[in-house]
Amino acid sequence: MVMTSGYHGESTMLTLTFNGHPRQLDNIPAQTTALALLRDRFATCGTKEGCASGDCGACTIAIGTRDDAGHLHYHGANACILPAHQLQGCHVVTVEGLAHGDGLHPVQQAMVDHHGSQCGFCTPGIVMSLFCLDHERRHHGLDSPPDDDTIDAALGGNLCRCTGYRAIRDAARAMHALPSPVSDDTVDIAPAARSTTDGFYRPESRRELITLLSQHPQARLIAGGTDLMLEHTLALKPLPELIDLSSVAELKHIKEEKSGWWIGAGVTYHQLTSLLAEHYPAFHTLLERLGSQQIRHRATLAGNLANASPIGDTPPILLALGARLRINGIRGAREVFIDDFFTGYRRTVLTEGEYLDAIYLPRLRNGEQLLAWKLSKRRDDDISAVMLALRTVIGEDGRLHEVRVACGGMAETSQRARHVEAALEGQVLDDEVLNDACNALAEDFSPIDDVRASRDYRLAGAAGLLARACHRLTSRHDAIPMTLEEV
Ligand SMILES: Cc1cc2nc3c(=O)[nH]c(=O)nc-3n(C[C@H](O)[C@H](O)[C@H](O)COP(=O)(O)OP(=O)(O)OC[C@H]3O[C@@H](n4cnc5c(N)ncnc54)[C@H](O)[C@@H]3O)c2cc1C
Ligand code: FES
Ligand code: FES
Repeated sequence: MVMTSGYHGESTMLTLTFNGHPRQLDNIPAQTTALALLRDRFATCGTKEGCASGDCGACTIAIGTRDDAGHLHYHGANACILPAHQLQGCHVVTVEGLAHGDGLHPVQQAMVDHHGSQCGFCTPGIVMSLFCLDHERRHHGLDSPPDDDTIDAALGGNLCRCTGYRAIRDAARAMHALPSPVSDDTVDIAPAARSTTDGFYRPESRRELITLLSQHPQARLIAGGTDLMLEHTLALKPLPELIDLSSVAELKHIKEEKSGWWIGAGVTYHQLTSLLAEHYPAFHTLLERLGSQQIRHRATLAGNLANASPIGDTPPILLALGARLRINGIRGAREVFIDDFFTGYRRTVLTEGEYLDAIYLPRLRNGEQLLAWKLSKRRDDDISAVMLALRTVIGEDGRLHEVRVACGGMAETSQRARHVEAALEGQVLDDEVLNDACNALAEDFSPIDDVRASRDYRLAGAAGLLARACHRLTSRHDAIPMTLEEV
């Protein structure tokens, strides 16, 4: 990998390091994707476009930032939906930047040795995903092959449509044994200078954000961009002015309180992983199926809520949990319950000049359980057809109390299932109660047929998920139909 230096002070241009070389650019329109930057401005075409929607992983690049000790860490991202301006101050590595002179990077060598190289669209993206995995494992001194789950997770966002992954997985298992690549710790990374030109505004504080909201009421907010950028890349809508939330310091924190956690709007799913794994295992399991690693490294919980899709994964969970939301903006701050946030299909209570500032996740009390599952056509990297989340506590009387059930994919917004809740509340779970609760789903929801699922499938799927939750509560795992358990 080429290493050069050359940054001195701040810049008002888009400033980044590309495969070891400093770059400064101007006249980059706000909506420009990282992929367009690489292919059109840098004329490096190793990074491919397969879908332009973040699904296939052909465009995967590695984005490097330094930790406090000065070590570079990389995460994979989909360049096709990543705003170029969010590369400010990062080290961007593409497939062209891996080899050092004539020597292949160990990931490339392993792919050659094990015949992992497949079509010209997918292979560069696959190599970049493996590069991120290999880099992180070497950083942690891991000198054994990654296990199958780790490899699956690393490649979950790279969808090959032609053959299979056997040879690629062999390469992934072999790359650690090859000599380490030249260290990139000395690469000079551009300072994270502001890039407020070309309609892309990067506030660094809440105060700056609110000022920008009042100065540019027509600008769109962007966090990870994993929903918003598709309006440009698929629907071909212009996005001439964007206010970026990803650099606002106050939004990047998780703040613990006695009874829960405030999750800032700039916190990515990746940064939420350990909190969810420790305190909300069902949410954590679901998160592993939300998009891919490329998506989870960029996307936010706040973006999922503000996007208000009826098939978003997190709204049913937050509805079941009883989350609170802090909204802020040019007219001051306010709090709303998640129950009152969604007002219709892709609509929320957010008004012009407002943004979602943070989400409060209440801590589960002793004995409280949160369960959640999604049904989707593909296990990984797919949006749900139906979601169901349930939170309750079984009292000493053996009855369910404080039942909250919510579904996605069943109405124009994610919604609580009030009739189901009423059928379960205060009951001892038995087959009759479960039957009544499943029947109540049809009173709560009248889902539509669409490309993801038919009305009947959605109702049957939700009933299956509810049955699974109830069996789980009573630990009757043996009663869960196999087809659902495998979903
Ligand atoms: C390949 C792929 C797979 C996906 N898989 C899933 C999946 O499995 N499950 C799922 O639920 N979603 C999925 N998504 C959708 C998306 O990743 C999520 O909805 C994500 O949480 C959006 O977060 P973001 O930060 O990227 O939002 P952005 O795209 O930045 O923003 C989304 C919308 O919310 C607005 N917005 C963002 N932040 C705020 C804020 N703080 N205040 C007010 N408005 C705001 C933006 O203006 C925009 O309208 C997928 C997307 C892709 C491309
Ligand atoms: S081109 Fe398919 S994920 Fe970017
Ligand atoms: S490697 Fe490209 S479609 Fe399979």
